[in-house]
Amino acid sequence: MTLPKAHNKPIRFFKGGVLHTLHDVAPDRTLLEVLREDLHQAGTKEGCGEGDCGACTVVLGSLQAGKLQTRAVNSCIKLAHSVDGMALWTVEDLAAPDGRLHPAQEALVQCHGSQCGFCTPGFVMSMAALCEQVGAKPITRDIAQHALSGNLCRCTGYRPILDAACRMQTLPPMALDTPALRQQLKDLARSAAAETAPLTKPAKAAKSAAGLRPGSARPFAQQTDSAYLAPTSLPELLTLRHAHPDAQLVAGCTDVGLWVTKQHRQFARVLDTTRVAELRQVERYSHHIAIGAAVSLQDAFAALVKDRPQLQSFADRFAGLPVRNAGTLGGNVANGSPIGDSMPLLIALGSNVVLASVRGYREMPLEALYTGYRQNCMAADEVLAYIKVPRPQRGELAHAYKISKRTEDDISAVCLALQLHLQGGKVVRASIGAGGVAATPVRASATEAALRGQAWTEATVQLAMDTLRAEFSPISDMRASGNYRRQVLGNLLWRFWLESQGHIATDIHRLDLELHA
Ligand SMILES: Cc1cc2nc3c(=O)[nH]c(=O)nc-3n(C[C@H](O)[C@H](O)[C@H](O)COP(=O)(O)OP(=O)(O)OC[C@H]3O[C@@H](n4cnc5c(N)ncnc54)[C@H](O)[C@@H]3O)c2cc1C
Ligand code: FES
Ligand code: FES
Repeated sequence: MTLPKAHNKPIRFFKGGVLHTLHDVAPDRTLLEVLREDLHQAGTKEGCGEGDCGACTVVLGSLQAGKLQTRAVNSCIKLAHSVDGMALWTVEDLAAPDGRLHPAQEALVQCHGSQCGFCTPGFVMSMAALCEQVGAKPITRDIAQHALSGNLCRCTGYRPILDAACRMQTLPPMALDTPALRQQLKDLARSAAAETAPLTKPAKAAKSAAGLRPGSARPFAQQTDSAYLAPTSLPELLTLRHAHPDAQLVAGCTDVGLWVTKQHRQFARVLDTTRVAELRQVERYSHHIAIGAAVSLQDAFAALVKDRPQLQSFADRFAGLPVRNAGTLGGNVANGSPIGDSMPLLIALGSNVVLASVRGYREMPLEALYTGYRQNCMAADEVLAYIKVPRPQRGELAHAYKISKRTEDDISAVCLALQLHLQGGKVVRASIGAGGVAATPVRASATEAALRGQAWTEATVQLAMDTLRAEFSPISDMRASGNYRRQVLGNLLWRFWLESQGHIATDIHRLDLELHA
């Protein structure tokens, strides 16, 4: 199919400190394609092409509130235009001009961390990002494992690779010249802003616990003819969404990227939410936190964990680090997969979503967003703007559990999140979200009713387990059978009960995975 050609703005980014300008790159071209085919930088490998193996890992640098942030991402599912204005490093950019290896590379050599070498550039990039991020903090095995959670190796085995990640810090450092890079990025942003200055000043999209003001509907004419639209303010995004309801809306592209690489879908125009300042913020109010739809999964979970530290192990189970760095909370919620992980948790915590368009805002409980399998009630000119998550109150018991075949980088077979409020040993409020058991993420209303007003005892829990197993009719698929899913749902409620009684040994996330050689 030939799609009508829209105007492609040039992409400008620093790679290894050198400014690159690429012209006429189609909006749905991936960063990996551009690196390998246009820039002939073939060190970055393609393994799976779907964000799973990490062979394509690169490091991106961008300014966040004036500070340089470096993060490892999968280039195979990242759209090339999304790195406009950023700094980028591939494995070709790490060694010094005199040939001295970066500590990540040298440590892999010393620890025999590579056999066929296909995965190695990806590991090197994740390790280089870790090196940059930890500074002087010692890299433990646990930290290394976390940083490498998005990288698979088929032949070396992980022990020497983890050894190498821990050894990096003992080698002569090769740190970035951060002040110079910050200046380069600022200059680049300034020149881009001068070229694409909006015709009208965006209205301030004020947001508070009480209410939200709609965005300006005035045109931002200099942006609108571009095939890759990357607005920087909410009013601008809403105006563009109104003007281009057919444009493919993208955030981190960790779902949409697979539509490109696996389903070969083409987009004549893309509308990217990830530069919209209002949508990249987490705001804390006394009763709730408002998480912008374009906040990365990594930052969104950090915000949730700040209020409820017990959720850390659940947060770490979401994909691998490069996917959490690129993907957003808004993308997970809007995509509405029945096996998406954030929604059961957000439902259990009583979260609302705020949808925005040039017509105004509307707010609803998260579960009300979904109308069917991967369908939602968002109008063609609407975007998901914020997710509002209530803060914990006294007497809250809350946890979330994910059951998948692999611990890291795997999709749920079943996900269950629970929040109870206890008073005098009685359940006064129960809120339960479930994934993998219906066509959409769902609230377990019957089980909530079975718990409400009851004493929090083993007998109550046993009855509620029966209700929970009977409440849904999950399908059987490659991840699990319907019967298994039903059984596990009840078992997870049992685990929640045991944990509430102090039997923490049932929590597998608390096992010490440290290897003692
Ligand atoms: C290897 C791998 C592992 C994964 N593991 C998990 C996992 O463990 N758990 C899990 O739940 N998911 C997982 N995912 C899926 C994916 O990472 C998440 O769904 C992610 O949150 C999507 O966010 P995104 O920003 O990348 O969305 P995108 O891919 O950019 O967009 C997804 C959808 O949301 C829409 N959208 C995005 N932002 C908005 C907005 N503001 N308003 C309206 N619509 C919007 C897009 O139009 C699109 O339809 C995994 C993906 C990969 C590749
Ligand atoms: S090629 Fe496997 S994650 Fe990108
Ligand atoms: S060295 Fe061969 S896949 Fe890792």
